[in-house]
Amino acid sequence: MTAMFTAAAGGTLSFPGGFVWGAATAAYQIEGAAGEDGRGTSIWDVFTHTPGRVAGGHTGDVACDHYHRYRDDVRLMRELGLGAYRFSVAWPRIQPTGSGPVNAAGLDFYDRLVDELLAADVSPYVTLYHWDLPQPLEDRGGWTERDTAHRFADYARIVHDRLGDRVGTWITVNEPWVVSVLGYGIGAHAPGRASWRDAFQASHHLLLAHGLGARALRDAGAREIALTLNLAPVTTPGRLDDPEAALSAEDAAAVDLVDCLINRQFLDPVLRGEYPAAVLDVVERAAGLGHIRDGDLETVNQPLDLLGVNYYNPCVVSAEPGEPANPAYPGTEGIRFGDAYAPKTAMGWPIVPTGLTRLLVRLSRDYPQVGLLVTENGAAFEDTVSGEHVHDADRIAFLEGHLRAAHTAVDAGADLRGYLVWSLLDNFEWAEGYGKRFGIVHVDFDTQRRLPKDSALWYRDVIRNNGLRAGRARRPTLEEVAARAGVSRSTVSRVINGEAAVSPEFRAVVMDAVTELGYVPNSAARSLVTRRTESIALIVPDGARAGDPLFATAVDAAGRELERAGKRVTLMFAGSPADRNRVERHLAAGHVDGALLLPARGSDPLPGALAGTGVPVVSLGRPPAAVALPYAGTDDAGGAAAAVGHLLGRGRRRIATIRGPVDLAAARDRFDGYRNALRDAACRSADAVGDLGRASGAAAMRELLAADPSLDAVFVAGDLMAVGALHALREAGLRVPEDVAVVGFGDEEDAAYAVPPLTTVRVPWSDQVLAAVRLLLRQIGGGPSSSVILPTELVVRSSS
Ligand code: FCB
Repeated sequence: MTAMFTAAAGGTLSFPGGFVWGAATAAYQIEGAAGEDGRGTSIWDVFTHTPGRVAGGHTGDVACDHYHRYRDDVRLMRELGLGAYRFSVAWPRIQPTGSGPVNAAGLDFYDRLVDELLAADVSPYVTLYHWDLPQPLEDRGGWTERDTAHRFADYARIVHDRLGDRVGTWITVNEPWVVSVLGYGIGAHAPGRASWRDAFQASHHLLLAHGLGARALRDAGAREIALTLNLAPVTTPGRLDDPEAALSAEDAAAVDLVDCLINRQFLDPVLRGEYPAAVLDVVERAAGLGHIRDGDLETVNQPLDLLGVNYYNPCVVSAEPGEPANPAYPGTEGIRFGDAYAPKTAMGWPIVPTGLTRLLVRLSRDYPQVGLLVTENGAAFEDTVSGEHVHDADRIAFLEGHLRAAHTAVDAGADLRGYLVWSLLDNFEWAEGYGKRFGIVHVDFDTQRRLPKDSALWYRDVIRNNGLRAGRARRPTLEEVAARAGVSRSTVSRVINGEAAVSPEFRAVVMDAVTELGYVPNSAARSLVTRRTESIALIVPDGARAGDPLFATAVDAAGRELERAGKRVTLMFAGSPADRNRVERHLAAGHVDGALLLPARGSDPLPGALAGTGVPVVSLGRPPAAVALPYAGTDDAGGAAAAVGHLLGRGRRRIATIRGPVDLAAARDRFDGYRNALRDAACRSADAVGDLGRASGAAAMRELLAADPSLDAVFVAGDLMAVGALHALREAGLRVPEDVAVVGFGDEEDAAYAVPPLTTVRVPWSDQVLAAVRLLLRQIGGGPSSSVILPTELVVRSSS
């Protein structure tokens, strides 16, 4: 797999004349003002206010407060030179009950917004449905109810009546796949249902809504009508690298079925007036076909001016006999959904710009009658505000890579008319809450201050130039750092390479300039004074235990992966102060190209010392708060919240916890996730601390029982401790789960074999190690130094 970052490479690329440049948002993600001016309740209001549904218990009540700050936001758009702004209209603002009476104040808001946009020379692109269905319609069946499609057409007409004189481009529905699968099939989004019958009925009715809405808009004189789909090129691991690679008949069938489910389930009815046979097979098995009536497909198949393409990543599959169906893709028994083995965004989504080229070229080939508009593309990364800047080099690299890919598609004949970045602002990222930042403009959610990130300024130049200029997107150079710091290039290089000979004063000045300019050392800078050693240190800090599953996985998986990359691995123990010094000197002297650090305790000075060596170091797991090391972590807080949500869902109310060591970042995150979820549910809590070992779990459990004999559940922040807790409960004559339910964390070996088998939170250890290795290799190669956080997964067994 080649690296996909092209930020520093490549020459001038111009897009066709009239190419539309813009940014996108959606109402519930930015507006806030949830209870104002007569707005009704939407399914997302209800969902976010249900404990355990959204990370951190976040809601869109306030969001970016755009409802009150839209003037400032439009000013920002003008400053960035946006030609188009895609926003969505909140249906509950227009019709609070989803049908019938119109709320004039709601229409007034969008009326003012449109005027403001036009005055700023920004064309409004209106999405009518970006997921905030009025709750009263959900109470009548939501999208499983055919009538909802008719109500949508009424609503479309009402909005067009008011804005149609000034809005040219209308997008009916955003991402029906996400609505139906995440909202109705697996319940990760509002309305939170988990029924495939409901999901397939919903997807058909969403298509019907599109058709009826498009017809209503056309009759009312709308200029340009579009539908936005989340589309993913589907391919095999082999073809991801080499599109010409041979494809077995079994793999081809796997690709075809998944392509039908994600893409053609929507493309074909809308653009060809038919469902693919493979889709009908799956739908019939899950939901029957009674909801698809004669004439529906003609309605769905309205003339379309533009297809809105939301592209984030490809889907990689292969045939694998015996593999159970993917929970999000019914009918996919025998198909393995794999990893793209590319760098990942903070969402854990692989970064594969070439996927966009393939997708656009394919769309124009298979559906030549419709123009294409990228209505969303962008990425969440862990941004850091340094003073008045956010140096989001990763996001720039992402966007540039995708724009180059889009340009390649245009060269190959794709009828691409424009590109809208997701998103203008950091915002409420649905089930992820505010933790995932997609904006090119940073939002401080405490003060609502907007701060354009480097990517916004970069995008402004792209728009001005109608494309990419050679060298425009380059990173700051070593020369610029030297000039800013007032030292020579070789001093900068020596600091960056961790040479011991530089005085602390010079080191400080250089590091200041590095931070201020957002400089990322590249291989050229490094090789000015050192040659590659092709060695990597795997560093074991104080307190790491050989019995820790992460330890074994780290040594095994990291060792293999690094060897594959042609590196040698040196295992270094840094338990004592003398050992720490030795490790630090080893790095500073340039004996290794980089280092992987196993999770360290909060009080351990090692991570801070390693961060100062100037050698790329990546931490496995989040490093202690004050240390700026890139890391590959797991969503510990989210996992804990899911565990507590599960216990609450089982009716438990007196939920105690056994926490891990308080100075371990992951243990603290688990505790935070636990506490927030409990607080949202207004439940009491008690906690005891363990050291991750079995005996400490048993002792902590006895302590908790003594303090509160009536507790009915315990969340244990580590599986070994949970095994100890099971032992203590048995000893106290209590039954699990009848008297006390137990959920562990980690899905370690012991979990499945405990008595009773443990419900736990699975942590993707080996993916985490592989992600850390990739981050490190990328950084050694001069790439950006972002962090990744991988999702965890609740595994329900009989202890709860
Ligand atoms: C898309 C949604 C959009 C945003 C991005 C990250 O699926 O349409 O609202 O959340 O994902």
